[in-house]
Amino acid sequence: MAIVKPIYLFANWKMYLNFQESVKLAQALARADKKLPRYIEQAIFPSALALSAVKTALKNTRVAVGAQNFYWVDKGGYTGEVSAPMYKRAGCKYALVGHSERRHVFNETNQDTRRKLEAALAENLTPILCVGETQKERMAGKSVEVLEIQIRGALQDLKTNGTKQLFIAYEPVWAIGTGHACEPHHAEEMHEHIQKMAGGLLPKIKLVILYGGSVRPENVAEYLTQKNIHGVLVGHASAGVGSWLKILKKCYV
Ligand code: PGA
Repeated sequence: MAIVKPIYLFANWKMYLNFQESVKLAQALARADKKLPRYIEQAIFPSALALSAVKTALKNTRVAVGAQNFYWVDKGGYTGEVSAPMYKRAGCKYALVGHSERRHVFNETNQDTRRKLEAALAENLTPILCVGETQKERMAGKSVEVLEIQIRGALQDLKTNGTKQLFIAYEPVWAIGTGHACEPHHAEEMHEHIQKMAGGLLPKIKLVILYGGSVRPENVAEYLTQKNIHGVLVGHASAGVGSWLKILKKCYV
């Protein structure tokens, strides 16, 4: 089966790279961008510290940048936080919302995720809503139920501020950073559920659904040939020039 186009290849650099490493990788991506076909939509989520320099390195390319995280209030006494309008002003197109590490390491709730989603939309920052079940929930047969709670909490009665398209990333917690990727056919089934649930809540909006969790050059094509998988959100393998370029190449050769 052919790869479904356009393809969204999103790189979540997490806290893997320092400033210098980030700029170096962005420069390599700027060089590689010249060869990429236009159906590849690439976005980089660097650390807040490196964002502006990464944006400069990617000037005159088609590679977008995004925020890994932000606070839902626009401005004020919130030490250590960065707001959605600040990211927007710094040139971000996208923002991750509700990433598993935010939910499980930093105890962010579905309500926090909802607030961030609203703050991003109000700023015309395109959110990528991340959802996914833990291993415990999976073993208890609760995967679909958990996704439903996360999706309903985020999207029910959401004011979409004229947005025509919404991104959702299915990232099973047990597959993130573990090397145990979700089997592509199983991911496809979960994407179908997400499409139905989110599509029912926001019938007028086009959904773009990404898979994330131990995506590597060896398995990326298997995800992208699934009907309801429109792209991937990659962590570890996106933070090294060799592995990320291999992932890009799998999408056009
Ligand atoms: P991983 O992370 O590719 O390192 O599993 C994915 C993610 O957290 O977005």
